[in-house]
Amino acid sequence: MKFFIDTANIEQIKEAASIGILDGVTTNPTLISREKGNPEDIFKAICEIVDGPVSAEAVSPDWQGMVKEGRHLASLHKNIVVKIPMTKEGLKAVKVLATEGIRTNVTLVFSPIQALLAARAGAAFVSPFVGRLDDIASEGMERVEQIMQIFSNYALSAEVIVASIRHPMHVVRAAMIGAHIATIPFKVIEQMMKHPLTDNGITRFLADWEKVKNRS
Ligand code: G3P
Repeated sequence: MKFFIDTANIEQIKEAASIGILDGVTTNPTLISREKGNPEDIFKAICEIVDGPVSAEAVSPDWQGMVKEGRHLASLHKNIVVKIPMTKEGLKAVKVLATEGIRTNVTLVFSPIQALLAARAGAAFVSPFVGRLDDIASEGMERVEQIMQIFSNYALSAEVIVASIRHPMHVVRAAMIGAHIATIPFKVIEQMMKHPLTDNGITRFLADWEKVKNRS
């Protein structure tokens, strides 16, 4: 499974890249609003750090506006993927952008049928939001299982990005299901590396080493 980071924070992206596990980045208007600076400068800076897909969201309400924005965003850097919301207008924009070779990531996907529509329209990536479904007492990961089954049934090439991840178990479940990608907040990436037995083990090994290191 590929790991993307779900943030627009340059320091977090640099830190995750330095661990050697980072395959791409997803942003959204909320994540951009938390950072300083012009959005386009942020997108370009991210593309300089990570050599993989970097999602930048189009915000126009109509397909013509989304296509125009998408063309401009894609012109900023070869790694930019245009994030398009899962609406009727969004699907129209995905279709046009796909014919021009511009990759899209259809976002705010909450059902398998929305995912199927996005893939059929020509999306390169489809992003089901698991955490926001869990928040309303609906099993987000079950939707991901269904989406993977449907994509497999019809050999659809769109890659599934499990998004709105809130904790490491979401990542474990995504990997067990065989989802292509998980886009993960920095805090969860840090949690994924931790285990109390690892910390205890290091403490014990270091203490024992202190006893023997000066032996002749
Ligand atoms: O980037 C989209 C998605 O991951 C947002 O997550 O936590 O705002 O539901 P969240």
